[in-house]
Amino acid sequence: MCGIVGYIGNKKACPILLAGLTRLEYRGYDSAGVSTIEKNGLSLMKNKGRVKNLYDLDGIDKLEGTIGIAHTRWATHGKPSNENSHPHQDNSKRISVVHNGIIENYSELRGLLESNGYHFYSQTDTEVIPNLIHYYFSKNTEDNSVMGFLRAVRDACLDLKGSFAIEVITDYFPDNMIVVRKDSPLVIGTCDDEKYISSDIPAILSFTRDFYLLNDFEFVLLSRTSARFFDSQLNEFQKNTDVIEWNSSAAEKDGFEDFMLKEIFEQPNAVRETIGSRISNNLTCDIDELNFSKEDLKKINKIYIIACGTAMHAGLSGKNAIEKLCRIPTEVDIASEFRYRDPIVDNNTLCIFISQSGETADTIAALKLAKSKGATTIAISNVIGSSITREADFTIYTHAGPEIAVASTKAYTSQVILINILAIYFAETLESASCEQLKDLKSEILSLPKKIEETLECKEQIFNFAKKVYQEKDMFFLGRGIDETVAKEGSLKLKEISYIHSESYAAGELKHGPIALIENGVTVVGIMTDEKLTPKTISNIQEVITRGAKTLIITNQVIDYNSFNEVIKIPNTSPFVSPILSVIPLQLLAYYISKEKGLDVDKPRNLAKSVTVE
Ligand code: AGP
Ligand code: GLU
Repeated sequence: MCGIVGYIGNKKACPILLAGLTRLEYRGYDSAGVSTIEKNGLSLMKNKGRVKNLYDLDGIDKLEGTIGIAHTRWATHGKPSNENSHPHQDNSKRISVVHNGIIENYSELRGLLESNGYHFYSQTDTEVIPNLIHYYFSKNTEDNSVMGFLRAVRDACLDLKGSFAIEVITDYFPDNMIVVRKDSPLVIGTCDDEKYISSDIPAILSFTRDFYLLNDFEFVLLSRTSARFFDSQLNEFQKNTDVIEWNSSAAEKDGFEDFMLKEIFEQPNAVRETIGSRISNNLTCDIDELNFSKEDLKKINKIYIIACGTAMHAGLSGKNAIEKLCRIPTEVDIASEFRYRDPIVDNNTLCIFISQSGETADTIAALKLAKSKGATTIAISNVIGSSITREADFTIYTHAGPEIAVASTKAYTSQVILINILAIYFAETLESASCEQLKDLKSEILSLPKKIEETLECKEQIFNFAKKVYQEKDMFFLGRGIDETVAKEGSLKLKEISYIHSESYAAGELKHGPIALIENGVTVVGIMTDEKLTPKTISNIQEVITRGAKTLIITNQVIDYNSFNEVIKIPNTSPFVSPILSVIPLQLLAYYISKEKGLDVDKPRNLAKSVTVE
């Protein structure tokens, strides 16, 4: 959620910081601000509203400082306002801090500071941080070196409960910056005499490929030429950089009107990258990152797939594949539910966590819980070195490239592919499915990038349909079996970016209640890709047509087109992987409806790309 940028080098910091904030805008925010170290002290410029408003602030173009911090805020404590925007400063205005996350014990800390004479000017939880640093720094009169200041930052951080990624600058030490994180993302890009700090990699990919990926409570003392790492006892340690292979143009729109549209159209390639060498042309399957023996897998008597939102929908395809191919009972759970429902997990349980960003707070917490109960854990993520990948026993990357639009598209299709490959890998190791069945599925998977390209040709047809329905208030998405999982994803996409209320249902369940909502003119989207289930779904669709519904059908089956208002024909494929094709018209439908309504497709209201709060 929201974002942090920092710069320390020899160039003017402010333009770099503002450009960085603009790149982080997709994460969702309500206010923005910067602070730089100037000759006469710290500057502070902040504002409720968009990053572009900062350019209009008086004096912002005069900032000369070459070290600075910046922030986009997604308010948790205190409404979006100029006062509550970050950076926040201590009472002496000599320390500036930006913070992503939540300080759960802020009111206790605030009380302590108030009783020591500190005043507060905002309603945020964050404002305690610079004051607490000041409190510790001024208390320790014996050490007023930069190490003494680092100690004060450390002491303050050890008092904080909750989650934080913070950057600290001070005019006591005008050549340094201190950064630290706990349960909130932060990376440092390094090149020559410059350091770039950011909440995520794409925002600073155009400056460097060399990144320090921080773990919780690693305190980093930055200067232009060095990054020194300290643990929470302030013992110094060495840290290596990771080289990030993503191409910086992957984080640009590349001529597309929106990131979402670009990412929809990137799916053939994204899926190709996900398959990579995991399935070879001669139909062998291997996942380099894993080394499970048959004995290891035989011990597993239960699998949980845990994720949020779209990633959870991809997990539903995983359940289908794992149960059918491996015959291991598999449950899919929403991370925020799993963590509080005392799940039955022991050391014979395998938990698979799916997260595009790898930074979703609920998923990380669920992963920690599963580990504490003895489960073996696998992370499926798109972001190298993200928190989830560092927690899990094993990580398999989707390699879909950066996903910028808040509404997830290519991450979903790559997750569905990857979890199917995982199921094949398990089934081969366990010898739980016939070679013939697995061979067929593998060759289907190899043919998918081409079939996605063919599916994308429905663009025009969907565009025209969207023009007819964009003013509607409600829509329904129906499917059976694997198609129901896609109905859920189609419905979520529509809600997220078009703000149209929608429901997804197992087609056979409609008559048990929700059919009461069907009235003249309401749009119902039916998905039918499974030969065995299609006649049943058609009957359910007939029931809504009889009650006046308009219908859009997504299918690879031979059906009577005349019975429906619009039919999108998609290429035939195995039901295991059909979501990869059937979701595409639904992604496009949500996209074009949102465009017709004149909405901000990439940055829908109230949403953030990675949800780093509970
Ligand atoms: C997807 O369109 C959503 N924005 C959202 O549901 C998302 O999938 C969810 O928040 C999980 O994110 P993650 O994959 O980064 O963990
Ligand atoms: N909790 C802080 C606030 O409300 C930080 C929010 C954020 O992560 O942007 O100001």
